[in-house]
Amino acid sequence: MTERNVVLVTGAGGWLGSLLVNALLDDPKTPDVQLVLVDIVEPKAPAGANAITIKADLTDPSQVDGIFQTSHGIPDTVYCLHGIMSRGAEDNFDFGLKVNVDSVRLVLNAARRFGSDIGRPLKFIFTSSLAVYGGPLPEVIKPDTIATPQGSYGAGKLLSEILINEYTRRGFVDGRIIRLPTIVVRPGAPSAATSSFLSAIIREPLKGIETTCPIGNSLSSPELDLAVWVASPETTVKNFIIAKHVPAAAFAPHTRVVCVPGFTATVREELAALEQVGGKEAVARVRFQDDATNRRIVSSWPARFDNAYALSLGFAVDEGGMVPVVERFKQQVQAGLA
Ligand SMILES: NC(=O)c1ccc[n+]([C@@H]2O[C@H](COP(=O)([O-])OP(=O)(O)OC[C@H]3O[C@@H](n4cnc5c(N)ncnc54)[C@H](O)[C@@H]3O)[C@@H](O)[C@H]2O)c1
Repeated sequence: MTERNVVLVTGAGGWLGSLLVNALLDDPKTPDVQLVLVDIVEPKAPAGANAITIKADLTDPSQVDGIFQTSHGIPDTVYCLHGIMSRGAEDNFDFGLKVNVDSVRLVLNAARRFGSDIGRPLKFIFTSSLAVYGGPLPEVIKPDTIATPQGSYGAGKLLSEILINEYTRRGFVDGRIIRLPTIVVRPGAPSAATSSFLSAIIREPLKGIETTCPIGNSLSSPELDLAVWVASPETTVKNFIIAKHVPAAAFAPHTRVVCVPGFTATVREELAALEQVGGKEAVARVRFQDDATNRRIVSSWPARFDNAYALSLGFAVDEGGMVPVVERFKQQVQAGLA
């Protein structure tokens, strides 16, 4: 049976969810895509899209089956993006597990049942995170590096990954697990992610607003050498689409986890890129107030990965480091889009 290009997106009202929706509409490999957009907050469909929008709380079992039973028919592909972010999951352990694990399992079980109804496992694309890694780590993370999370968000993501891998091994779904770097620059209001400041220290100054960097106490603090693993939203969304098109047989036989490509940047390099793009007056809008909890969590995440496996599967990588990322964001600010 051929795919009908019906794509269900959970978390469609969120940042990456809404970027993904636009990318799906532009994907020449999924012409006439029919979308089912789901979020706990009423998601918006782009003008002209063939989209059904559903407001649903996916932690409520009674609301899950309905998202698979719309007039578009059973989806071929599920993008499972809904979730609560790192600081939210760290500060509220039970709620974090409920959203980042229990509700993912509900959606996964529904995908299994509806896939069985149509006699073909649904593609199940899940956005995981580098936060699955922590503790003593090698200098460079490789596909065989064992994930030992040191935060509740990463632990929740890893639990969901294991379920998706197992459901894939059993043939219940065709899982694709993409471990994302931290995505910068995020527009809009600060999020509940521990990494939120990595966007805020670019975004707010370029918008003429002061912001507080929770790493270090001044521009000369050694803490600013903290390195992070990042990717731009443009490349990330491209990789969401690629994740759908990678042939199942191309993945390593024992896992569907792929650490999608990113690059290393230090907080100091981010601020240097800000200065290059926005000038000294932009950097002067960054205040410093070291937050030990925030720094501990971000420091526990790895900052260097071997991109080779992901690149061999066809995933894309940012070129040119932070400066082009900050330049693109400045253009969005100037266009009133950020
Ligand atoms: N942004 C990043 O840097 C980054 C990095 C790694 C992984 N991720 C993962 O990518 C995904 C998308 O991230 P984002 O930055 O767009 O986050 P986001 O917070 O902007 O979007 C998440 C969406 O999930 C929705 N949601 C939360 N609970 C829900 C529920 N019970 N039922 C239905 N919807 C619910 C929220 O309303 C929100 O719109 C998440 O799974 C996140 O963990 C993001």
